[in-house]
Amino acid sequence: MSTTDPTHRTVIEPFKVKVMEPLPFPTLAERERVLALAGWNLFLVRARDVTFDFLTDSGTTAMSAAQWAAMMVADESYAGSRSFERFEAVVRDVTGFPHVVPTHQGRAAERLLFQTLVKPGDVVPSNNHFDTTRANLEQLGATALDLVIAEGRDPRSLHPFKGEIDLGRLEACCREHAGRIPLGMITITNNTGGGQPVSLANLRGAAEIYRRHGIPFVIDACRFAENAWFVKVREPGQGERTPRAIAREIFDLADACLMSGKKDGMVNIGGFIATRQGAWLPALRSLLILTEGFPTYGGLAARDLEALAVGLEEALDERYLDYRTAVSRYMADGLTARGVPVMQPPGGHAVYIDARAFLPHLDAAELPAQALACELYRALGVRSCEIGSVMFGKVAAMELVRLAFPRRVYTQAHFDYILEGFEEVVARKDAIRGLRIVEEPPFLRHFTARFEPLG
Ligand code: F0G
Repeated sequence: MSTTDPTHRTVIEPFKVKVMEPLPFPTLAERERVLALAGWNLFLVRARDVTFDFLTDSGTTAMSAAQWAAMMVADESYAGSRSFERFEAVVRDVTGFPHVVPTHQGRAAERLLFQTLVKPGDVVPSNNHFDTTRANLEQLGATALDLVIAEGRDPRSLHPFKGEIDLGRLEACCREHAGRIPLGMITITNNTGGGQPVSLANLRGAAEIYRRHGIPFVIDACRFAENAWFVKVREPGQGERTPRAIAREIFDLADACLMSGKKDGMVNIGGFIATRQGAWLPALRSLLILTEGFPTYGGLAARDLEALAVGLEEALDERYLDYRTAVSRYMADGLTARGVPVMQPPGGHAVYIDARAFLPHLDAAELPAQALACELYRALGVRSCEIGSVMFGKVAAMELVRLAFPRRVYTQAHFDYILEGFEEVVARKDAIRGLRIVEEPPFLRHFTARFEPLG
């Protein structure tokens, strides 16, 4: 049942298409040739050989007519541009944070803030740190601690807020590492597990612990609007509130946020730091000028700031969020109904297929998730991402295939077509062969390794 339209069960795309881009349709024989040429590594496949690209939801959004229109009236002045004023006003209004520092994307915001606050030997807790957040902390000699609740690590758990931080472990961590925690974080939604949300109650609890220990609370807010929607529809007592009011309450709990605009900013590039800590600004701005750009553009064109200003508002639209979260639910339900095991409940931006459960005839050494990702490309022209033994460089706890959905790009007919195609994949799944690595770099091997089918 749709939450925004009580008269219909079907949740529709709440937009019509003005600019279209044709889908590439390589034939089966062409896809088989592409796979062999790419060494069975989907990162090495050209986008023009992919029909449905679910590699990531980041920077792959279709922008609206309003965003493109705003880009045309952007003011590209080096200093003090009108576009910065507009962008700053929207970020202030949505987050309540008075100070706004633009950056070219999320990881630049991470680097600037961490370089300002973090020293070697420090500890930074979170529910789960995203890869670049962790890497930026470790780069500075700090430890990134993941304190997600136990249900968040259990693919069968139906907990409605699997992204929550374990408040007991957080309290213990703050005591154990007293004086060595320059900031505490929470990622909303928690990317790990496909965008699992965090409840308002849990965010309030974490904020209280951080405040009591005098630790600034920083939210990794990439998917803040999707998180606000899950709070509205899943948390008791929140159903009558707007996503905007819920998002504002979340930001009110924190000292700052780090934002990759490439997700809920609805843009292809852009990000920011927003904060109420005026004392951090001189250091942040000096670093920004050194490596990103002047404080009124921060490594972006003014037209990018305009698009982000409009996108932040569009991401909070109720009809959009209802449709957005229906996409992963629809795919998770459709896959489950066809006998494809997926992590439950589906998160906001992605669906994870449990490749070990789907392909029990392949053992870990035969790289079941990589094999399945390649089969989805071969059979359906779908590009997904292995999150398993290939990515982690060792036998992983879970062998997952992530289908991450770009915002406003694919329609329900596309998803129905893919689900129909899955029936054929299910029918012949016992014939799917494993892979072995024939070439790999010393680290981050998933981007460039080459594979070969076994047998
Ligand atoms: N934080 C989270 C939770 C993210 O998911 C990402 C990016 C970042 C920070 C970094 O932002 O890419 O703008 O520098 N996630 C993308 C993904 C890459 O595919 O999940 P960025």
